[in-house]
Amino acid sequence: MSQNQKNPDDVETTGHSWDGIEEFDNPMPRWWLWTFYATIFWAVLYTIAYPAWPLISQATPGLLGYSTRGEVAEQIALVEENNAAINEQLASVELTEIAANSELGTYAENAGGSIFATYCSQCHGSGAAGAVGYPSLLDDDWLWGGDIENIYLTIAHGIRNDDLDSRYSEMPAFGDILEDPEIDQLVNYVISLSGTPEDAAMAAAGEELFLDNCSSCHGEDGKGDVFQGAPNLADAIWLYGGDPDTLRETITYSRFGVMPPWNTRLSEAELRAVSHYVHTRGGGE
Ligand code: HEC
Ligand code: HEC
Repeated sequence: MSQNQKNPDDVETTGHSWDGIEEFDNPMPRWWLWTFYATIFWAVLYTIAYPAWPLISQATPGLLGYSTRGEVAEQIALVEENNAAINEQLASVELTEIAANSELGTYAENAGGSIFATYCSQCHGSGAAGAVGYPSLLDDDWLWGGDIENIYLTIAHGIRNDDLDSRYSEMPAFGDILEDPEIDQLVNYVISLSGTPEDAAMAAAGEELFLDNCSSCHGEDGKGDVFQGAPNLADAIWLYGGDPDTLRETITYSRFGVMPPWNTRLSEAELRAVSHYVHTRGGGE
């Protein structure tokens, strides 16, 4: 029995009794009681001051007007304010000068990296290595040109979309134009441009078909044309795949790779930062 507890005989009981066992009515310790009242008082003040009670579409806002969203918005505004000067500079210099200015280049590299992770990695991969149908941006094999001006135009306006300045070209579906055996010859010929075809005789027969049907876009040597977004077929780097089945499918049905325009979502400085980032990934011309 601790010292401040009274003798059992001095303590009132609650009047409850179970089989002769009575319940003492010892008062709560004062310190405990006051702490308890203090927490109630604090809770009432808190729900008045801060967002608390859920209503139908939102909670009571609280007198202090605090919100976690507001706090994030403030922090973003602060970062934007701090970066305003360099963003303005980034948005106005010649594209080719970004890399030459070390402060600007470092800033664009970092900003571009986080823009890439947010908006581009879903399709091009977090390391920009691409996937089937989504080009790698690390190599120096470019569909639409790899100097920074061309990269900027591709990103700003996108590819095969509603933007009036978007990159646009369409390979015909040769299943409607050529016979199946001819397509097989072309498959072998395309493979022969960078490797060993399954059937050398068919590959040889495919050359003329290629010159007649394909060279206007892919070039006589099959090395592609950045003005039409026609890939280089002679370098063993494949957007859709270089095995016979995939090539047959590409030539029969054609492809239609689409990228959205980014000028509607990113500011001028952001577009330039991510263009710089892509340009410096390795293959920048
Ligand atoms: C919805 C998927 C998608 C997203 C998101 C996307 N892209 Fe693309 N991107 C593509 C496709 C598909 C192509 C290839 C189109 C073609 O076949 O010509 C492409 C092509 C490109 C090219 C041209 C490559 C070359 O070889 O010329 C660049 C540069 C590029 N993207 C950069 C970006 C950047 C930067 C972002 C983020 C701001 C981005 N992309 C976001 C799908 C996407
Ligand atoms: C009008 C221009 C044009 C013509 C003609 C054309 N192509 Fe294409 N070709 C393209 C374009 C543009 C692409 C990229 C399509 C995309 O990314 O959506 C492409 C893509 C391809 C690919 C995919 C390459 C890869 O890396 O996966 C192959 C293979 C191909 N073409 C073969 C041919 C053959 C064979 C012919 C002739 C029978 C031909 N093309 C005729 C424009 C053309």
